[in-house]
Amino acid sequence: MNRRELLKALGATTAGIALLPQLNAMGYFAPAELSKSAFGDDFLWGVATAAYQIEGGHNADGKGPSVWDTFSHGKKNIKTGENGDVSCDFYHSYAQDIDFIRQMNMQVFRFSTAWSRILPQGTGAVNQKGLDFYNKVIDTCLEKGLQPWLTTYHWDIPQALQDKGGWTNRDVLSWYNEYVEVITKAYGDRVKNWMVMNEPLAFTAIGYLLGIHAPGKTGFKNFIPAAHHTTLCQAEGGRIIRRNVKDANIGTTFSCSSIEPFKGKDVHAKTVERWDAMVNRLFIEPALGMGYPMESLPAIKKVEKYMQPGDEEKMKFDFDFIGVQNYTREIARANFIIPYMKGLQVPAKRRHVETTEMGWEVYPEGIYKVLKKFAAYPNVKKIYVTENGCAFPDVVENGRVHDAKRVQFFKDYLAQVLRAKNEGVNVQGYFVWTLMDNFEWAEGYKTRFGLVHVDFKTQQRIMKDSGLWFKEFLAD
Ligand code: FCB
Repeated sequence: MNRRELLKALGATTAGIALLPQLNAMGYFAPAELSKSAFGDDFLWGVATAAYQIEGGHNADGKGPSVWDTFSHGKKNIKTGENGDVSCDFYHSYAQDIDFIRQMNMQVFRFSTAWSRILPQGTGAVNQKGLDFYNKVIDTCLEKGLQPWLTTYHWDIPQALQDKGGWTNRDVLSWYNEYVEVITKAYGDRVKNWMVMNEPLAFTAIGYLLGIHAPGKTGFKNFIPAAHHTTLCQAEGGRIIRRNVKDANIGTTFSCSSIEPFKGKDVHAKTVERWDAMVNRLFIEPALGMGYPMESLPAIKKVEKYMQPGDEEKMKFDFDFIGVQNYTREIARANFIIPYMKGLQVPAKRRHVETTEMGWEVYPEGIYKVLKKFAAYPNVKKIYVTENGCAFPDVVENGRVHDAKRVQFFKDYLAQVLRAKNEGVNVQGYFVWTLMDNFEWAEGYKTRFGLVHVDFKTQQRIMKDSGLWFKEFLAD
């Protein structure tokens, strides 16, 4: 039964009226018709990208290798055997690609700088041509009336630094500081919106605990120091931006998922708490001055070995905003054989729910739940949805891509963002993952998330129906 039918059936009966608050909470009164104006004039719309996923030009003009260059060339690391050497070739086609953002009537281009393009060895000599590339990207945005939003780190630490341990080596604090000093001084006159990290949990857990992403390391002995040094850099990056960039709007982003108990049963509550601490709380709470969530996640106590006097203080930073990135929800199930987490996530495919090509559950209400959750922290001042999107198998037919499922995905998720906003969550913008199909890390090019379709053989672009939908939705 759809919303209208339900309301009609309930009519004005006493029982129906009694149900209204509950239905409201369930989102039944979210506007049937979404509109740009419902989000308000100040709400920002944009797209998000990451350097390694789109740029290509992997050794162009003096760029040094990053962990992803090395990892993607390693045997069997990428499911499809592909790499990011060329990818969308954004390194050469940035002007045309940035123009698509304008065409879609968006205002924000979120991108990251590749550390090893600017400092090929990670520290020391600066590569002027690398610096100039982002000058051109930034200037192109400004010429087209777009706001450049810069992420300092989206998972591509220089290989030269990984050779010394990468994020597991505490020296990463000084390496990272040097890099952020360079980019803030170079771009801070024109870039006012900064994000320190992209999803710290994702790159430390998938890259240093599970070994599925670069640099392919495994175990708590790698994960815990990598996580702690990332937490310190997260705050220190914020301080450097504050010092070097006048009038900066400073944030950092997190992967956020609603974690819920298997079949809604209480027996899984502790497991839910542990997964929630790992997935949602591990990196934000130290920044907010709450320390690591050790009570909920005893495994994280191992971090004490890597903590030095004064670290508690150094982990804090008063961010202007938090970037919430949401893709799915997780269902947790207790299982005491599993070390540390004492439970597992039940894959969406086994739960027979609708999924994207990544195998992630389509669960629009999840974005509402995580927005409410993050907004509930007293020191979170404002939120942007810095990533949300989906991969579906797209087909080109007569020069068009009719990605109806993606259009529906955005409609449903946006309705839930609006629901949170209408309930008082200070969410001020929404950035789609992603501008165009690109190198989806260990999945290769198969999983397409773009609003613009990319033919990786010819580099031809086609705006998908979802891109056209945004164009129309955002038209004045
Ligand atoms: C996010 C990453 C982004 C992209 C999407 C699908 O976790 O930040 O780079 O891979 O997932």
